[in-house]
Amino acid sequence: MIKIAPSILSADFANLGRDIRRVKTADWLHVDVMDGAFVPNITVGVPVVKSIRKCTDLFLDVHLMVEKPWRYISAFARAGADLLSVHLEADMPPGVRDALRIMDEHKVKKGIALRPITSAESVLPWLEQIDLVLVMTVEPGFGGQSFMENQLPKIEAIRRFIDKYNPACDLQVDGGINPMTARQVTAAGANVLVAGTAVYGAPDIELAIASLRG
Ligand code: DX5
Ligand code: ZN
Repeated sequence: MIKIAPSILSADFANLGRDIRRVKTADWLHVDVMDGAFVPNITVGVPVVKSIRKCTDLFLDVHLMVEKPWRYISAFARAGADLLSVHLEADMPPGVRDALRIMDEHKVKKGIALRPITSAESVLPWLEQIDLVLVMTVEPGFGGQSFMENQLPKIEAIRRFIDKYNPACDLQVDGGINPMTARQVTAAGANVLVAGTAVYGAPDIELAIASLRG
């Protein structure tokens, strides 16, 4: 089954509760945390996730675009995240290992995210112990960018790895997803689709979510 995860990066932050209620036909809610160091942009942090938790029952999927994310795992888990994704490029392997261990301690689901430049193979050492692989199909940092088609072979390769080594693992894509690119990535093997602009930029949000499901 395809899961749709609207990204609140494209919501109106002054009306966040309202905009979260607008996507209740979705499956997950995607929250982009950016620190101005791992990526050039700054977005939201722990207190915002805590407030979001109080206003939705959607599965809370928190994408950490921050340096050395292990430092913040406990805080985001306590704030109510259901899943935390950390970028492989954001720390050395011991830091990534610590991040996953702290997620386990808090019983939150574990995601590994890959920038477009990072190879499919780089996820292999982690694959058997995680719940989700996030393939970025734009450079992380901003909503509204164009989908990078050159990531399709990587999505296909990771789908093959997942089927072989950890079939329960979700394969998420993030960046430039619209009804057309949604078809391409699901054909390549993705099953969780993040969409900011295609959801919040649409005149009819419920219809937009349905169109992404295909
Ligand atoms: C970008 C973020 C995305 C972003 C996607 O760094 O990770 O989640 O919100 O936005 P769209 O769907 O507009 O490309
Ligand atoms: Zn994201």
